[in-house]
Amino acid sequence: MRRIEEAAEAMGVSRLLLMENAGRGLSDIIVELRPAIEDARVVVVAGTGNNGGDGFVAARHLAGYGARPAVILLGEAGQIKTDEARANWRILEAMRETVRLYEAPSLESLRRLEAIILEADIVIDGIFGTGIRGAVREPHATAIDLINRSKGLKVAIDLPSGLDPATGEVRERVVRADITVTFHRAKKGLLDRQEYTGCVVVKPIGVPPEAEQRALG
Ligand SMILES: NC(=O)c1ccc[n+]([C@@H]2O[C@H](COP(=O)([O-])OP(=O)(O)OC[C@H]3O[C@@H](n4cnc5c(N)ncnc54)[C@H](OP(=O)(O)O)[C@@H]3O)[C@@H](O)[C@H]2O)c1
Repeated sequence: MRRIEEAAEAMGVSRLLLMENAGRGLSDIIVELRPAIEDARVVVVAGTGNNGGDGFVAARHLAGYGARPAVILLGEAGQIKTDEARANWRILEAMRETVRLYEAPSLESLRRLEAIILEADIVIDGIFGTGIRGAVREPHATAIDLINRSKGLKVAIDLPSGLDPATGEVRERVVRADITVTFHRAKKGLLDRQEYTGCVVVKPIGVPPEAEQRALG
């Protein structure tokens, strides 16, 4: 996927555009599933990588549909890793009327926000996707527990946080999603893991087929 993204970028399809398509695709699916989205309590639980960035875009689109999104960043805004995720966070910062933003760099700060996750109608898991490495740290581990305890519909971005993208092995903590919206192609680790992925939907994000051929061929 990394090589495909690089090839797409070389053809003029920016990472920002791919992120936009991913987040937009995700929000479209949520609205198809829950057409009565107006005033729905949506929470995006986001990490500081591009998986979280996809969630920032989805929050913006869902606000446009009249939902009431909250975004909980598991870290501080200054720790956001990529330009495209940072650009989308800044847009949310400007959406003062429609999006509530929270930073939760510690377990203590996350605990203060737990009711938002537990009582949401829709919980979007944007903690990590293909960038997961090693044992799940805090506050991410507790965030996964809170998502699993939530009464809301659970939607995973790209893959449920805690699932290994290549092998499907599960870390000590893993999100149990109702639906996983994965981008471009289903990652190998999603196969036969319905207990964690729920229903898997593969969403194109505008990668030119030529970019894929160049990257893989
Ligand atoms: N252009 C696009 O927008 C585009 C295209 C394709 C895919 N995507 C999305 O981007 C995702 C990949 O993004 P990414 O490479 O930035 O990685 P990521 O999946 O977003 O994960 C990276 C983040 O997770 C943290 N992390 C990793 N392992 C951790 C652990 N064990 N405990 C706690 N934190 C951990 C990292 O922090 P540290 O570095 O501090 O560990 C980093 O902040 C895909 O799954 C997909 O959702 C986006």
